[in-house]
Amino acid sequence: MQKIFAANWKMYKTRSQASQSAQELAKGLGQMPAGQEVVVFAPFTAISCAADAFKGHAGLTVGGQNCYPAEEGAFTGETSPAMLRDAGAAWVLTGHSERRHIMGEDDALVARKTIFALEHGLNVLLCIGETLEQREAGKLNAVLERQLAAVFAAMPASLGGAALVGKLAVGYEPVWAIGTGKVAGPKEVLDAHAVTRALLGKLVGETASRLPILYGGSVKPNNAAGLMALDNVDGLLVGGASLEAQSFLQIIGA
Ligand code: 13P
Repeated sequence: MQKIFAANWKMYKTRSQASQSAQELAKGLGQMPAGQEVVVFAPFTAISCAADAFKGHAGLTVGGQNCYPAEEGAFTGETSPAMLRDAGAAWVLTGHSERRHIMGEDDALVARKTIFALEHGLNVLLCIGETLEQREAGKLNAVLERQLAAVFAAMPASLGGAALVGKLAVGYEPVWAIGTGKVAGPKEVLDAHAVTRALLGKLVGETASRLPILYGGSVKPNNAAGLMALDNVDGLLVGGASLEAQSFLQIIGA
């Protein structure tokens, strides 16, 4: 299984700060071994800076944090997949909890973005996850199922199945663990990732075993190894602790 270490820089870093961090990462990582990839999800303005710093480094790639599902048009403030690719991005995040909960994106829009981005040559890291309220109400499985099913129900046959391998990854990020310092415990992560794998199995059959599932939510250098050792954890999606290159390097090294 492909292993992915993803940094989500959110709305942090100017172009010069992004260049400096990406250069530090490139220096610290050199070339990634086959089957491992590091992706930095940079703010739009800094994508090209990070992409320049990663040139010539195998397995180091850049992503956008959002895109709009149209080729071009009167969509003020939005960015198309082709524009992201032109800036040097190979990936895009969809369904991140901050877009769902702060910007009000619903499952249908997340599905449109995911499919449109895949159709237009971007790899997608599709994020799912429950709020604390949903978890406490016993709705974890139902929420993950609803979020995944919305995407796969709308997926054209030409994109689905084995065609998704190497192009789609899923990020499980419990909303209550994002930016709170409250990492999900091993049992919570194991259970949620097993549920996610099983749901993917129902939706895409045996391809499910070849789609990486990343954990995100308060990942730090001191908990990364323990998380990566868990079944069905194929990578990490790191926010705050990815802003300092040295701390993200420690997470990858763990
Ligand atoms: P933190 O690592 O800061 O909790 O953020 C997680 C996240 O949202 C990554 O996408």
